Amino acid sequence: MLDAEVRELMQAFVLSDYQVQEVYSRFCLEVARGLKRSTHPQANVKCFPTYVQDLPTGDEMGKYLALDLGGTNFRVLLVSLKGHHDASVESQIYAVPKDLMVGSGVDLFDHIADCLAKFVEKHNMKTAYLPLGFTFSFPCVQVGLKEGLLVRWTKGFDCAGCEGEDVGRMLHEAIQRRGDADIAVVAILNDTTGTLMSCAHRNPDCRVGVIVGTGCNACYVEEVENVDLLHPDFKRTKKQVIINAEWGAFGEGGQLDFVRTEYDREVDEKSINRSQQLFEKMTAGMYLGNLVRLVLLRALERKLIFRQSSRRPEFATVLQKHQDVFETRYISEIEDDTFPEFASTRSIVKKLFGIEKASVEDCQTLKYICECVAKRAATLVAIGVSGLINRTSNKSVVVGMDGSVYRYHPKFDAYMREVLVKLVKSDKAWDIMLSEDGSGRGAALVAAVASKTK
Ligand code: GLC
Repeated sequence: MLDAEVRELMQAFVLSDYQVQEVYSRFCLEVARGLKRSTHPQANVKCFPTYVQDLPTGDEMGKYLALDLGGTNFRVLLVSLKGHHDASVESQIYAVPKDLMVGSGVDLFDHIADCLAKFVEKHNMKTAYLPLGFTFSFPCVQVGLKEGLLVRWTKGFDCAGCEGEDVGRMLHEAIQRRGDADIAVVAILNDTTGTLMSCAHRNPDCRVGVIVGTGCNACYVEEVENVDLLHPDFKRTKKQVIINAEWGAFGEGGQLDFVRTEYDREVDEKSINRSQQLFEKMTAGMYLGNLVRLVLLRALERKLIFRQSSRRPEFATVLQKHQDVFETRYISEIEDDTFPEFASTRSIVKKLFGIEKASVEDCQTLKYICECVAKRAATLVAIGVSGLINRTSNKSVVVGMDGSVYRYHPKFDAYMREVLVKLVKSDKAWDIMLSEDGSGRGAALVAAVASKTK
């Protein structure tokens, strides 16, 4: 049985029906403000047009390179689109060294170009002409399919000399500096767009793409007439355009203050992008482990966990060492655990604190803390997804999802569905599908569309 005091501690993370409704209304309002020219500058959900106006038909063919930059790793991929909704992907993962994440932009792009050259060499493609789709998962103002001006860095990146710059051009220049491969950057896209495109390649009803990984964001298909920011030229022949919501920034105007906790405020205050990305800081993998860590510190202080141990101050010191000591993946592992063995929970507790055999009660408390933090994240994501589904003009909408939190957390999907059932309009049918290789296939598909519309 869970202690009443533990429940009380976690109450701040449990959203009431009223709070869910209220966040939903505020979110929908922000999306509408983001789309409208007059309110766009003040809106925090920016709703950037992506210039992707064609969903895949499944018939796309050809070989494309794709680059995926947006988290701690980046990937280079070679995608062969084969028609008949089919594709094959070969890829290689490269680390982004920590110093490059906060160094100079030119160094970052030179490193990317080096890895790209190695990859091309390894696949014996040095002499081939290769169109490249660049999945760049940060907020960008797109001025065309292959031009994206970085608005701000997110997710722990902070490279000098990039904000306001066209990252497509920066990549192009880095490739030119090496001068040893014939690679053309034909499209820049967000990872959410890649997810939507790759899911639409398999399921034509896909209209929303969502990432819940290191960061958290979504895109969706909007009618061009609702998108003030899109130049009339792009409204003549095409009826729709994918909008990159950049919902991670939701709450920067105070809209979430009524549900944010003291832990959320601390996460924000200690981050390198203070007061920014407040919705993301409640939902994304980069922050969820840190939230659990802060709650655990409070639980220790109030003697709500490990109460039999005299080593509590020592445990607190462990947790204070670094904001990433409680890794987000532990949340998934703990929630996957079974009562009363708690094998993973016990091994995590042992690894962190050196406790040989944590009690069942302590394991339950830890599990409950993780559950509340993850469930709130899933609830908030589902609120956003419902808002986007309800905006689309389709009767039946599939949501393509990706990202480590969604993929590996055993209940994230179920938590989301509980909320979607309540918020999606009753005349709409909806479903969620897991994306398969959105960053590769999605980027190739956008590159294929770009080549077609040239
Ligand atoms: C951050 C980025 C956004 C991206 C998301 C998921 O929110 O700003 O562009 O889609 O992370 O990677």
